[in-house]
Amino acid sequence: MPLILGIESSCDESAAALVEGPSVVRSSVIATQHDLHARYAGVVPEIASRAHAERVLPVIEEALREAGATLGDLDAIAVGHTPGLIGSLLVGVSTAKALSWGLGIPLIGVHHLLAHLHAPTLDDEPISFPAISLIASGGHTALYRQTEPLSATLLGSTIDDAVGEAFDKAATMLEAGYPGGPAIEALAETGDPEAFDLPIPRSRDNPLDFSFAGLKTALLYAARGHPRGRGREARFPRDVSDLSDSTRSDLAASFQKSAVAALVRGVRRAVDSEDVRSLCGGGGVLANAPLRRQLALLANERNLLLRIPPMRYCVDNAAMIAGLAALRLEAGLTDDLDLQATPRHPIPPPVG
Ligand code: KG4
Ligand code: ZN
Repeated sequence: MPLILGIESSCDESAAALVEGPSVVRSSVIATQHDLHARYAGVVPEIASRAHAERVLPVIEEALREAGATLGDLDAIAVGHTPGLIGSLLVGVSTAKALSWGLGIPLIGVHHLLAHLHAPTLDDEPISFPAISLIASGGHTALYRQTEPLSATLLGSTIDDAVGEAFDKAATMLEAGYPGGPAIEALAETGDPEAFDLPIPRSRDNPLDFSFAGLKTALLYAARGHPRGRGREARFPRDVSDLSDSTRSDLAASFQKSAVAALVRGVRRAVDSEDVRSLCGGGGVLANAPLRRQLALLANERNLLLRIPPMRYCVDNAAMIAGLAALRLEAGLTDDLDLQATPRHPIPPPVG
């Protein structure tokens, strides 16, 4: 089995991993930048790319050390080259090119979202296709049908915010902390999810599309009351600091309930309209325990194999990049040194 070094730098995680073949993880090192972005309550692209430039070589060295390997043992270099923040992607892509050229071994560009959907197979079995696959992360929320790991057919996606972004904004609104997903989940633990009725928007044209902007506004009004005036002129009757801790927890629990219900509703429609064997998921929001529980219930009801990664492979990591790259290498899909860092690029649909 080829030994592949994977590099991930698409957003605010600098990561490197060594994976043997598609699924045997020898090491997976992740340097998060949460501390650098917390005071801005969101990822600042320029800060992110500078931090990647400082961290990329140390995380690669650490990944080699943990696996007990040297650069000379590598068979290929893989990098997440799309989608993501351009400055951040460039750090990973340039490093991968330099290593591939210097070592004289293949370079393999990997689609970050397809890599998230490969994550359930790390340290585990391959997926039984066909599958309905959910991506729920900070930048993306979409449903796909997959018949193989290197392509996916888009069934629906968010028409506004990504669900992770909605969690992050909800956490800012409730002054819950950063990053928002885990902060809301923790705050929700002591809250009553029935306390506030925060509506799940109806999908208009495509029943498999998602929308989270309305939920965010509903949370804002529930927390701070209806504003007088609009836009920057808006004046709210209350501040978040006027709310008791238990009301903030109730708001977090109610928000989480609706956000999870919106995702599960989309997944239910998808699995009911397609004949599939597996239900897969990937992306940071799949770390959410209530979402994991509800997907497990749905898979059980519909007799589907549930494939969602363990927590460590839900959030951005490089093992998923290296693992998927092994399948590209096997299929002869390697890249030249003109591989581009590309901020936006859809997952390729199946050929033919
Ligand atoms: O996949 P990821 O690490 O990065 C992107 O590719 O975007 O996902 C990060 C997102 C963030 O929005 C974060 O708040 C969310 O995943 N997230 C969660 C949880 N853990 C991370 N959302 C809900 N509940 C969680 N436990
Ligand atoms: Zn991601």
